[in-house]
Amino acid sequence: MTAIPRPEIAPSILSSDFARLGEQVTEVLDAGTRVIHVDVMDGHFVPPITIGPLIVDALRELVHARGAILDVHLMIERPERQVEAFAKAGADVITIHPESTPNIHYGLKLIRELGCKAGVVINPGTPVEAVEPVMEIVDLCLLMSVNPGWGGQKYIPSSTERLRRLRAMLPAEVVLEVDGGVSLATIDEVRAAGAELIVAGSAVFGADDAGDAYRALAARL
Ligand code: DX5
Ligand code: ZN
Repeated sequence: MTAIPRPEIAPSILSSDFARLGEQVTEVLDAGTRVIHVDVMDGHFVPPITIGPLIVDALRELVHARGAILDVHLMIERPERQVEAFAKAGADVITIHPESTPNIHYGLKLIRELGCKAGVVINPGTPVEAVEPVMEIVDLCLLMSVNPGWGGQKYIPSSTERLRRLRAMLPAEVVLEVDGGVSLATIDEVRAAGAELIVAGSAVFGADDAGDAYRALAARL
């Protein structure tokens, strides 16, 4: 892949119907998205267990055939031990949390060495300054605007100011992503604060028609 599409809405499959995953992903690809967000949880870093490299591998052909990318968000302990498996499975962007490893710099460098775009992601309780030591070695920075672990939570209002601070701090080429509680009610606020890649789970797959929901959000970009 060359560049991460921006601005774009990244539908999160966490809120999709897993019994018809391929169909649901096709709906949003047909509607125009070029980024599919994949939430990986291990039952340790966050309580739920979700999915692993097998599902990334199952989606890679479908997604890449449309010129779209897989944005894999690792909410797991010691992610540096798993990035190779996700890279081999077809991940294009891999994001890891400094709260989940003492080796964030190493993990991000490893992601790039594996040929993927590297992203650092911080929780609502982590100072934005945590990004500073790695901002020269990342392609993307993801701000959690809810606590990680579950879809369908309410947007944390202080995230808007944190997005502004990150945008001011980061080099222009680093993509700013936001994840959690984004809907038609909050998208204008995160856009105005500088978010370029906007994750939407329940706002897309919780809607009656995922394609229509994607288009309504994308119209606000
Ligand atoms: C939460 C995940 C999110 C989640 C967002 O831990 O990282 O990607 O799917 O869901 P919504 O958009 O419903 O807040
Ligand atoms: Zn996510």
